[in-house]
Amino acid sequence: MGKIRAAVTSVGGYVPEYKLTNKVLETLVDTNDEWITSRTGIKERRILKGEGLGTSDMAVEAVNELLKKRGISADEIDLLICCTVTPDLVFPATANIITDKIGAKNAFGFDLMAACSGFLYGVTTASKYIESGACKKVVVVGADKMSSIVDYTDRETCIIFGDGCGAVLLEPTEEDLGIMDTIMKSDGSGRVHLHQKAGGSVKPASHATVDAKEHFIYQEGKAVFKFAVTNMADVSAEVMERNNLGSDDIRFLVPHQANKRIIDATARRMGVGSDKVMLNIEKYGNTTSGTIPLCLWEWEKQLKKGDNLILSAFGGGFTWGAIYLKWAYDSK
Ligand code: UT7
Repeated sequence: MGKIRAAVTSVGGYVPEYKLTNKVLETLVDTNDEWITSRTGIKERRILKGEGLGTSDMAVEAVNELLKKRGISADEIDLLICCTVTPDLVFPATANIITDKIGAKNAFGFDLMAACSGFLYGVTTASKYIESGACKKVVVVGADKMSSIVDYTDRETCIIFGDGCGAVLLEPTEEDLGIMDTIMKSDGSGRVHLHQKAGGSVKPASHATVDAKEHFIYQEGKAVFKFAVTNMADVSAEVMERNNLGSDDIRFLVPHQANKRIIDATARRMGVGSDKVMLNIEKYGNTTSGTIPLCLWEWEKQLKKGDNLILSAFGGGFTWGAIYLKWAYDSK
């Protein structure tokens, strides 16, 4: 028997309808469309509106879509990993809520928190369950309702983030396809530059923490940018080198969408032109765990069996990494 690899066999996605444009943000904070566009590449982001709606509600839409496309039912899922920093509740895991809502009666599930690199960590974890033979059908969800932790009076963060969700199904294959290599990295000392100050065990929620706006994202943008721009480029080049891939071998770079300048630097380092870069930051902003699967969802129809993709991310933790994925099917 040949080596078993984990192949992506279906993709789903969901973005909320409401568009928060740069023009609207100009009415909330001291900013302007020109600054946001030139510094980040973002024009608008989606926001999940509606009482009682959370991350799991977006995930349900995305997972149901991928099941429908693959022609399987929810009870065939063995494992569902939900990558998020905005779970529905502190506990239980949002993965449990999703599996309940979609009727995945035979699945176990857990949440995985690696901020903007969450989806890559999730896919890496899922691939091990498949390669070991422990699971046959694993769903990895990347979902974040970032609007639930964004301070819309902070111009340095509110312009960046949006809500959205993408999901993939991974299944075993003996063909030379699927997850070919992964490099995951982290450095917890970076936590000082990007975190949420309260609501955890160190500083539980209180009137004081709410008054001090400590349940929102705290980001030192410049410091994060510096680490992101070098590490995302380095790890993308590293995964190419160790798999003997030249720029001509790459069909697409699938980058985390944090800032167009970080994406451009990564593409330059890999030697790939903009025609080979999946970029939708202008429409959705930074949806944290959602960015990479949302790109796969939008570009699925252009992908062919055997296409070489490099998925790459950098985010809070710090966490970062890259995956070499050989696409496993021609889209209908
Ligand atoms: O996905 C997770 C990881 N996160 C990231 O990768 C984010 C990385 N960081 C970034 O993308 C960028 O640092 C930001 C987009 C957050 C900020 O862009 P920047 O080019 O680093 O701007 P800056 O913080 O250096 O600020 C430049 C100037 C400052 O004014 P002064 O001090 O030069 O007078 C800011 O106060 O721009 C000002 N500024 C703004 N002006 C208009 C900051 N935010 C805004 C704004 N509108 N929204």
